[in-house]
Amino acid sequence: MLSLADRYTRAQRSLCDVDQDHLLDHYDKLEDDQRNDLLEQIESVDWPAVGRMVKTHVRSKPVVKLPSNIEPAPWYPNIPTEALQDKYCQAEQLGRQLVSDEKVAVFTVAGGQGTRLGWNGPKGGFPATPIRQTPLFGCLAEFIGKVQEKYSCRMLWYIMTSTMNHEDTRAVFERHEYFGLKPDQIQFFAQEMVPAFKISSGKVLMSGPDSLALSPNGHGGSLKALYTSGTLADMQNQGVEQISYTQVDNPLVRVIDPLFIGLHCLDGAQMSSKMVTKANPQERVGVFCLVDGKVTVIEYSDLPVELAEQRLENGELRFGAGSIAIHMIRSDYVESLSRGTESGQFGLPFHRAEKKVSEYDPHAQVLIEPQAPNAVKLEMFVFDALPMCKTSIVYQTDRLEEFAPIKNCNGPGVEDCLSTSQVLQVERACRWLEAKGVTVPRDGNGHVNAVLEIRASTAVEQSDLDELVLPGNIDPGSSVLV
Ligand code: UD1
Repeated sequence: MLSLADRYTRAQRSLCDVDQDHLLDHYDKLEDDQRNDLLEQIESVDWPAVGRMVKTHVRSKPVVKLPSNIEPAPWYPNIPTEALQDKYCQAEQLGRQLVSDEKVAVFTVAGGQGTRLGWNGPKGGFPATPIRQTPLFGCLAEFIGKVQEKYSCRMLWYIMTSTMNHEDTRAVFERHEYFGLKPDQIQFFAQEMVPAFKISSGKVLMSGPDSLALSPNGHGGSLKALYTSGTLADMQNQGVEQISYTQVDNPLVRVIDPLFIGLHCLDGAQMSSKMVTKANPQERVGVFCLVDGKVTVIEYSDLPVELAEQRLENGELRFGAGSIAIHMIRSDYVESLSRGTESGQFGLPFHRAEKKVSEYDPHAQVLIEPQAPNAVKLEMFVFDALPMCKTSIVYQTDRLEEFAPIKNCNGPGVEDCLSTSQVLQVERACRWLEAKGVTVPRDGNGHVNAVLEIRASTAVEQSDLDELVLPGNIDPGSSVLV
């Protein structure tokens, strides 16, 4: 093991090379444990890459030129047309087979900071369901448990954390006894962190005397981290060919969907996506487009208003395919994207955002809370891997069936928060129960007048309710857990 002095010398060399050695200016004033903490953080950063980023993304802004030839991406409809019915049957069968053959693993990205949610702890520990208050991780775990039961298989679950929440995430799982799953089927690995840069100088910011202002490198960093952490090799050794990618923030997400898996595989796609039809032109979701014949997500903030508002003759939005961040990814595609990682040529671009980041001033020894954006943060987005695919398909799903994200704190008029998610969770439970002949009370506005929760361990799709004895009707105002 290297001594502190040797590590200091090595760190100083890397930092000098990229003109960031101010980070060690006050090293002498630190205690040994603080020195260790600071060096550990410095050692976790890819400094040659930082040097390149300062030139291309901080001192100058990368030119984001919107292509001129944007078309809507084609998609497979949720309900197959007559011509597609055979293909959907075949796809569903293939998907089920791949799941029971254990060729598919679940992958959850949970490295984000969850700042908007205002929750102290990993987002996956956030209580999400309306009756049991099951945490988001618990919803996903129960889904996996049910899939294992239905397909008599063992399902591997990979969870990406970041160094900021890695230990806390593991602790959530330990506290909940792995939500009924076996500890050895779940693997955690952390994504890389990137520093925040001062806009005016390009210098890396500090967040304390012994810490840098670091944040996770975006969900696109998941594809790199799968490779660099050795997780991809582990997946491949265990025979995993397909990765079912979802975010941690959606309690209704179908972490395994045989039809989607099958369509993606039948078409020989490298990476595929699910979409929901946008509720309105302003909805803040990325949109699936075709650019030079390649499926591409254009973020809502980048799509010109005149395109966002264009409508087809039947009144539907022309650019209406909203991204809900659900993907199927071939494991060998992740490998091909990552091949250049060692030479610093990992395939996804960084996106630049100017943000307010607390900044430690080591001279005055104070933490400054900026009033205006003072820093550049850089993130990679997973959907930037789509245009690099030879083939990529988009499949439309039904919003109510699987999209009830929790991103923000509850508040009047706030979207994508706990209360809006729970309304959707109850509405979906109601839909499934009504389809089985249960009478559910509704108020004058058509809203469900009861609190309903269907455990994923009971049913991951409506047909799983077929064998159950269900109540004939539900009393107004009651709570019913199935
Ligand atoms: C994202 C998509 C948006 C999509 C929406 C659907 C982007 C830029 N936008 O928005 O197009 O419609 O989801 O819900 O992605 N995460 C990490 N590491 C990171 C950053 C994020 O693991 O470094 C994870 C988070 O833990 C979370 C997910 O990625 O599970 C979403 O991240 P977030 O930054 O909240 O994206 P959204 O703004 O919700």
